[in-house]
Amino acid sequence: MKKNKTQAAATPQRGAAAVDAALAAELKPGQSIELLKELHILTREGRLNQDSRRKLKQVYHLFQFIEKLLHELPARDGGPTLADHGAGKSYLGFIIYDLFFKALGQGHIYGVETRAELVERSQALAQRLGFSRMAFVNTTVAESLSDQRLPEQIDVVTALHACDTATDDAIAFGLQKRARFMVLVPCCQAEVASCLRESKALSLSRTPLAELWRHPLHTREMGSQITNVLRCLYLEACGYQVTVTELVGWEHSMKNELILARYTGQKKRSAAERLQALLAEFGLQSLQATRYPLPAQGAALATAPDAAPSAA
Ligand SMILES: C[S@@+](CC[C@H](N)C(=O)[O-])C[C@H]1O[C@@H](n2cnc3c(N)ncnc32)[C@H](O)[C@@H]1O
Repeated sequence: MKKNKTQAAATPQRGAAAVDAALAAELKPGQSIELLKELHILTREGRLNQDSRRKLKQVYHLFQFIEKLLHELPARDGGPTLADHGAGKSYLGFIIYDLFFKALGQGHIYGVETRAELVERSQALAQRLGFSRMAFVNTTVAESLSDQRLPEQIDVVTALHACDTATDDAIAFGLQKRARFMVLVPCCQAEVASCLRESKALSLSRTPLAELWRHPLHTREMGSQITNVLRCLYLEACGYQVTVTELVGWEHSMKNELILARYTGQKKRSAAERLQALLAEFGLQSLQATRYPLPAQGAALATAPDAAPSAA
C-alpha cells in the first residue's frame, strides 16, 4: 500500500527528515508527525526528548481513556460527534481526530474557544493536515449552546482545564445536547468561592464548619472542592453516572481531577436532595437557578440518548 507523507515520516529512515527508531516505536500507525511538531511534542527536527516523551505518554493516556468511550457509542449516520470546550490550541481535539476520527472516515470534532487567534490557528492547522471534519467555533461555551454552527446532538463533551465557570457551561451544553459522555477536568472556579466569601460572617456565626473556609486561601480551595462536588451531584440528578478520578500523568498540574459522566437516564433523587441541602448549608442557594436547574423528577432530558450503547 502506498504510504502517505505522514506515514512515511513515521518510518525510520536516513536523512534530515529521519525519525529515529526509538521515536517510530512510540508512534501509532498513520500518526501525523506534522501535528506532533505543531503541538511541540516533537522538536522541529522530528525528535523526541525526555520531556516530550513524557508529554506524548500523557496525551496517549488521555486519548486511550476517551477512545474507550468513543468505541461504546452506537453506530449512527454521520459518525460520532465530540465538542471540546475551552479548546485552547485544540491539542486534545487534534490528537483525538488524528488517532480515531481520521481512520474512521466519519464523525466531527468541534472546538469551542473564545480567543480568535487560537481558533484561526487551529482552523489553519486542520486545513493543512486535511482534517476536514474538524470545526472551530469562536465563541464562549455559554453562547455555544445556541450557536447554529454546532449540531443539535453531541455524543461526547470534553472540557480540559476550561477556565472558571466554563466547565459549568460545558455541563449545561452536554445536558442540552444530550451528550452520552462528559469528560471534565475542571480548572479553578471563582464563583462559589465568591459566594462563600460574601456570606462568611453569617456562616461563622451559624456553624463551626465555616472554619473550613475562614482564611482566604481556604475559601478558594473549599470553593473549588465544593464546586466539583456540586457538579457531580448535579450530573447524577440529571441522569448521569459519575466517576471522579485523577488524570494520571498530569501530576505537574494542580488541577488533575477528572470527572467522567456517563448517561444512564437514572436521575438520582437522592443526589438532587443532597445538592439542595449542600447549597443551603453553604449559603449558595442563589446558584441553584443559574447553575443547577434540576429537571423535574421522572422527566427525561430533552430527548435522552438511545438507551443501550453498543460497540461502534
Ligand atoms: C487553560 S486553557 C486550556 C486549553 C486546552 N483545553 C488545554 O487543556 O490545553 C483554557 C482555555 O479556555 C478558553 N476559555 C476560557 N473561558 C472560556 C469560555 N467561557 N468559553 C470558551 N473558551 C474559554 C481560554 O481562552 C483558554 O484557551
